[in-house]
Amino acid sequence: MMMWWLTAGVVPVSATTPMLRALNSSYYNPMLPGFHPDPSCIFVSEWDDTFFCASSSFNAFPGVPLHASKDLQNWKLIGHTLNRQEQLPCLAETNRSTSGIWAPTLRYHDGIFWVVTTLVDDDRADDDASRWDNIIFRSDDPYNPLSWSNATHFDFEGYDTSPLWDEDGKAYIVGGHAWKVFPGLLLAEANLYTGKVGEWSNIWNGTGGTAPEGPHIYIKDSWYYLLAAEGGTGLEHMVTMARSRHLYGPYETNPANPVLTNSNTSSYFQTVGHADLFQDASGNWWGVALSTRSGPDYTNYPMGREIVLVPVTWAPDEFPVWSPVSGDMNGWALPPTSKDINGSGPFIDEGDVIDFAPGSALPAHFTHWRFPISESYTIAPPEHPNALRLRPSRLNLTALNGNYAGPEGQTFVGRRQQDTLFTFSVDLDFAPENPGDEAGVSVFLTQNHHLDLGVVMLPLNSSTTVFPGTDNPIPLREGNSSSQLIPQLRFRGISYTAVPEDIIAPVPAEWTGKTLRLEIRASNMTHYAFSAGPADSMSQMNTLLEVSNTAVSWGFTGVILGIYCTTNGHEMGGEPAYFSRWRYIPQGQFRD
Ligand SMILES: *[C@@H]1O[C@H](CO)[C@@H](O)[C@H](O)[C@H]1NC(C)=O
Ligand SMILES: *[C@@H]1O[C@H](CO)[C@@H](O)[C@H](O)[C@H]1NC(C)=O
Ligand SMILES: *[C@@H]1O[C@H](CO)[C@@H](O)[C@H](O)[C@H]1NC(C)=O
Ligand SMILES: *[C@@H]1O[C@H](CO)[C@@H](O)[C@H](O)[C@H]1NC(C)=O
Ligand SMILES: *[C@@H]1O[C@H](CO)[C@@H](O)[C@H](O)[C@H]1NC(C)=O
Ligand SMILES: *[C@@H]1O[C@H](CO)[C@@H](O)[C@H](O)[C@H]1NC(C)=O
Ligand SMILES: *[C@@H]1O[C@H](CO)[C@@H](O)[C@H](O)[C@H]1NC(C)=O
Ligand SMILES: *[C@@H]1O[C@H](CO)[C@@H](O)[C@H](O)[C@H]1NC(C)=O
Ligand SMILES: *[C@@H]1O[C@H](CO)[C@@H](O)[C@H](O)[C@H]1NC(C)=O
Ligand SMILES: *[C@@H]1O[C@H](CO)[C@@H](O)[C@H](O)[C@H]1NC(C)=O
Repeated sequence: MMMWWLTAGVVPVSATTPMLRALNSSYYNPMLPGFHPDPSCIFVSEWDDTFFCASSSFNAFPGVPLHASKDLQNWKLIGHTLNRQEQLPCLAETNRSTSGIWAPTLRYHDGIFWVVTTLVDDDRADDDASRWDNIIFRSDDPYNPLSWSNATHFDFEGYDTSPLWDEDGKAYIVGGHAWKVFPGLLLAEANLYTGKVGEWSNIWNGTGGTAPEGPHIYIKDSWYYLLAAEGGTGLEHMVTMARSRHLYGPYETNPANPVLTNSNTSSYFQTVGHADLFQDASGNWWGVALSTRSGPDYTNYPMGREIVLVPVTWAPDEFPVWSPVSGDMNGWALPPTSKDINGSGPFIDEGDVIDFAPGSALPAHFTHWRFPISESYTIAPPEHPNALRLRPSRLNLTALNGNYAGPEGQTFVGRRQQDTLFTFSVDLDFAPENPGDEAGVSVFLTQNHHLDLGVVMLPLNSSTTVFPGTDNPIPLREGNSSSQLIPQLRFRGISYTAVPEDIIAPVPAEWTGKTLRLEIRASNMTHYAFSAGPADSMSQMNTLLEVSNTAVSWGFTGVILGIYCTTNGHEMGGEPAYFSRWRYIPQGQFRD
């Protein structure tokens, strides 16, 4: 049992007969690629035998995405738990990119869907109670975003909170205590409607790994099985278990811990941990966990923490046995393939072909950073049908100090990178007037980690190059002063690791007044290419530069590919930008 990770990533060649093999199925990980950390999944027979999953969203809005599937393979975005500002106004105020919504737990009980989670202000100290805003949402129809309640707040100095119901129907919450104060898992009785909680009781501290967290309790064969994550969410991440005959313990540690980890392996799938368990209609057990496709180098993982699925064997009276995580999996027979699922969002493997037709709305999978100012986003305005008009925000994507933006917001909307290889492109009409006015495309991880290609109004003398493939010199002619403002294409990146210097090239004279196409392409596992050209003449499209994705491989979130419009600090009044012909083309998934 303790040895399996030595061979993790190697797909075992089974010696079993073809007949027996046919009972099992093969599938791939990740189950939900892209920025979907801290999975919590359930199977609900009352809702047409459907699986539902929730994941963390940090400062992204709408928050807590919900995906549904009939077959554990085709996952459809059906909405978001946090979809209206009035549900949780404080999300506007979070400081730091590691703040926001951490680790939701999704449960179904007596006809109600529950999401219990934490709004974290990571700018505050561990022992500052105001760091942890623990909250409960409920819904009687997960396909209807408006059915999700406002947040009900409850007192707990910690995070990763998870509800459970004992056999007598009483509700409890288990959570991870702020670990720098003292690491431990705490339990209390709770009224999930009012947020009133009883006294918190320390039931287990894990096996000694950093940050025992992500707890869930399952009741089976008259045991309380307690599952936890330990080791932190990086390379040491693991899943451990303990059990007790009594809810409040004492809990005895599973001698086979860790039950799931890829730590100390060479697998492409690392950081495996933060798990949840559920049973399908045939009674087979499955586990989900988060994982990062980085290999042990842990330097190129722009999609961040994704969701993986593993078969679990859970014999009566015994601890469950989890299969190790790899890209190619073999396990219980999957439910029959079905895409018969309601809900407004796309299936996880679909690309985007979005033309912002009059009367359409922003697609359900489009994401902002904190709350959007809704007037800043107009689909098909009269002066430009089939475009999305962005009104500039004063703040750019970095904003004041890389941590905060506040109620005035940042004009940005994007979609998650969900494929190792992809091409994302949009067309841009933009006539900037004031110095600093800018609109463009971004590979956005956090306010302190983003790579942008924009058109920005800058003085001629700030140019650093001529756009590749065009031979017209910088248009400095007699009578034009060096401080004359002209629209320029600019690459600008910010990260905690090295990024290329800004590259600034005047928009080539022959493109002036034309619709431009801006493109970001991941053509291999490590680099993004940023390109531009006139939309009506693809032969003139050229790559300005290629940038390593290590700049956006960091922290808790994953890359969002999107568009922005800003005045870079000037008071409002900047020109709007019109984006049209939005395309995201999936081009390959690396699993090895
Ligand atoms: C949610 O909160 C808002 C703002 O406080 C309030 O107007 C609204 O009535 C609340 N909705 C529900 C369903 O309680
Ligand atoms: C976040 O930071 C900003 C600017 O530093 C500050 O004005 C604001 O009060 C902070 N908000 C919270 C909730 O700490
Ligand atoms: C957890 O650790 C704390 C601090 O070391 C200790 O006081 C407590 O007894 C431990 N809890 C359990 C359940 O072992
Ligand atoms: C990985 O190896 C190190 C060093 O041998 C060890 O301390 C650690 O416990 C191992 N981690 C896991 C999760 O097995
Ligand atoms: C089928 O999958 C289960 C769960 O992973 C495993 O225990 C069992 O050995 C597999 N059977 C075969 C024939 O591969
Ligand atoms: C989809 O919604 C319709 C209308 O509410 C309902 O009749 C149908 O059963 C739903 N289908 C699924 C697969 O949930
Ligand atoms: C804009 O971005 C730059 C570089 O990332 C940053 O230094 C500056 O503070 C930002 N300004 C505003 C107003 O958002
Ligand atoms: C630059 O100067 C030339 C020659 O005087 C003039 O024709 C042109 O319009 C000027 N360019 C701009 C952008 O003002
Ligand atoms: C560009 O020209 C303006 C006005 O002459 C001057 O203030 C500024 O320093 C120059 N900038 C650069 C980068 O040379
Ligand atoms: C990806 O492409 C970049 C730019 O062409 C190149 O420098 C890098 O070595 C490539 N990486 C891999 C893993 O092939």
